Amino acid sequence: MDAIRCQGVCKDYRVGFWRRRVRILHDLELTVRAGETFGYLGPNGAGKTTTIKILLGLLHPTAGCAWLCGRDASRPEARAAAGYLPETPTFYDYLTGEEFLAFMARLAGLARSVAREQIPALLDRVGLSGAGSRQLRKYSKGMLQRIGMAQALLGNPALVILDEPMSGLDPIGRKEIRDIMVSLRKEGRTVFFSSHIIPDVEMLCDRVGILLGGRLARVGRLDELLGTEIDSVEVTLAGLPPEAAATDGALAPPLVQGDRVQLRLRAEAEVDALLRRTLAAGGRILSVVPHRRTLEEIFLAEVAERGRR
Ligand SMILES: Nc1ncnc2c1ncn2[C@@H]1O[C@H](COP(=O)(O)OP(=O)(O)O)[C@@H](O)[C@H]1O
Ligand SMILES: [Mg+2]
Repeated sequence: MDAIRCQGVCKDYRVGFWRRRVRILHDLELTVRAGETFGYLGPNGAGKTTTIKILLGLLHPTAGCAWLCGRDASRPEARAAAGYLPETPTFYDYLTGEEFLAFMARLAGLARSVAREQIPALLDRVGLSGAGSRQLRKYSKGMLQRIGMAQALLGNPALVILDEPMSGLDPIGRKEIRDIMVSLRKEGRTVFFSSHIIPDVEMLCDRVGILLGGRLARVGRLDELLGTEIDSVEVTLAGLPPEAAATDGALAPPLVQGDRVQLRLRAEAEVDALLRRTLAAGGRILSVVPHRRTLEEIFLAEVAERGRR
């Protein structure tokens, strides 16, 4: 059974003084299989949060239907199957970490005995076991995000939905969240998360969907999107005048820094010729680095393509 399914989901909002209808999501078709980590990527305003709210039954689609673990997303039983970390969680900051989790467990209808057992384990899991009796207003942004993560894991959900779990965090905070997400995937849980920070999610997801202007521009496995073929080769040379480094296969103007020249070439044949010429002219070869397309490049190319249309 699919963990998440959207079929023809559209969402209109009414905006402005005249309450004009604006379509925010266009005919969304999406399937996330059980056990998958799915990255839902898109720039700000693409409609990621709107999609997530529809999945959680917090918003109703204008058209189409969404299912969580086979249940209609607009029904409360569906919501119970998923843990959720909102984009901007609001915390009762006078509560301690432990009290906050106990409170959220009660809201989720978890038995007190179950909560008592789960809370210390969850605090430990997100690296906050030493901070459970501290008030949330004394937590850093990274700690708040991690207690939010613990909250999403209350009740041991098989499906976890995270809205921009890494935004606003420093590199250490992002790594801590990423490590937790990797461990969820290892446990076989389904993780659906949104992000606009592309390098952060590369290598984390089994599949990604790229949402642009409320439309799914690309969906696929990361390795399929990235491909395996070398896309270009970056060559760094030294001790040559830049003119001597000129070649037909350059993808961009050479970058010159001191006596170093960095070039991006299309094909290996051109690289060989350039290296031979460099050595013949008495220059040195500092590095030759093959490049594959990154998710960020694919993402930016999709954005540019859409802008042209
Ligand atoms: N309640 C609302 N009323 C009108 N427009 C909204 C509302 N909520 C979001 N939008 C608009 O819908 C679009 C998608 O928003 P959102 O789903 O929050 O995007 P994302 O999470 O990808 O940044 C944005 O253009 C936003 O301004
Ligand atoms: Mg959002």
